[in-house]
Amino acid sequence: MIDIRHRISDSATAQTNNGLDKGHHMSKRAKLAQDMEFPPEIEQPNVYPLSWHRGTEKMEEIYEASLREFWDPMALPWDTFDVSKYSWEEREAIAYWWTILSVFDASAPPVFAGAFIKTYEDHEEDAVRRCFFSVTKDEQNHEQVCGLAITKLLEHPDPITYEPKTDLGKRLQKNAKWLYYNGARYWDGYKAAVPKYSLAVLFSSFLMGEMGAATIFHQMAAGAKEPVFEAAFRNIGRDEGRHMAICLTLMQRDYPKISDEDKATVTKQIRAGYLFLSAVLFEPPEEFWDIPSDFIENQRAGEAVAREAGFFVPEYEAKKENWRKAMLNLKSVLDKYDIPFPAIPEVGIDGQEVTDIDMEDIIPVF
Ligand SMILES: [Fe+2]
Ligand SMILES: [Fe+2]
Repeated sequence: MIDIRHRISDSATAQTNNGLDKGHHMSKRAKLAQDMEFPPEIEQPNVYPLSWHRGTEKMEEIYEASLREFWDPMALPWDTFDVSKYSWEEREAIAYWWTILSVFDASAPPVFAGAFIKTYEDHEEDAVRRCFFSVTKDEQNHEQVCGLAITKLLEHPDPITYEPKTDLGKRLQKNAKWLYYNGARYWDGYKAAVPKYSLAVLFSSFLMGEMGAATIFHQMAAGAKEPVFEAAFRNIGRDEGRHMAICLTLMQRDYPKISDEDKATVTKQIRAGYLFLSAVLFEPPEEFWDIPSDFIENQRAGEAVAREAGFFVPEYEAKKENWRKAMLNLKSVLDKYDIPFPAIPEVGIDGQEVTDIDMEDIIPVF
């Protein structure tokens, strides 16, 4: 990551300057070992721990579960999924749902890879590092499933350059382009946030995505008619549940000593996470998402066709209720540590008012 590279080159420059002070030539690294019995302290953060500390036993259990529950997206029963029994409108509508999901899941592997590097920089416990690696891999599986479903449905590996065959398909592709444009805006903010915040602060928004995601995938697995989707949603839902456990375990470890400043950041991040993840778990709020005025109407039309075709997507009220419950669960976790919860009037939750949130300053992931 950019920030890490800056730090590496800064410390390399510092070492070279030291060398110069001692009268060595710039092109040669100072040979400290000739003057010192032991090497100097290594400047921190350094990405290179030489330690395998244990502490949070729960993390070992979660990691073991991740090995036991590991699955291969290619090994799902794709051959039972006969797309020819669906109309093109239905195929485009179902592919659109997978596209919405992929707007979130395709950013998750690099996002977690960034967090994974941070666990090394912070010299985190051995099992914490392994757990973050497992999340990175899981998220790549989720993204791969999105790709397999979209490619099979559209007979094209990319929903953005695909040529829609129906009027609904055209409307949904316009939506997809706007979603993708919006999602792409948070990457720079995320890169800036990772070195700035402690893992404990980053976790608050991770947890929120996982809580909402675990619920929706379990429901979609229960409602799925196609065996391949049923299996995919069941596996993805189980993964998200594990990710939730990783976040919760780390919060339990770190939140008892969280600073007031970090508490305020968590409150703000929860509100930002709500606005961001609403696009997949509920409906994108227009004051935050830069979307055209017919977006919601197009999305509802697409979901209606997908549902008619037997692809289960929760209805508006059900999504709202899921989302409200996920927020209340998160609130009960944060209440334990006296972290103020933001107001989420959209789903009827009172709290601290948080305004002025922009796509550029959010950390949430899925
Ligand atoms: Fe995921
Ligand atoms: Fe996840």
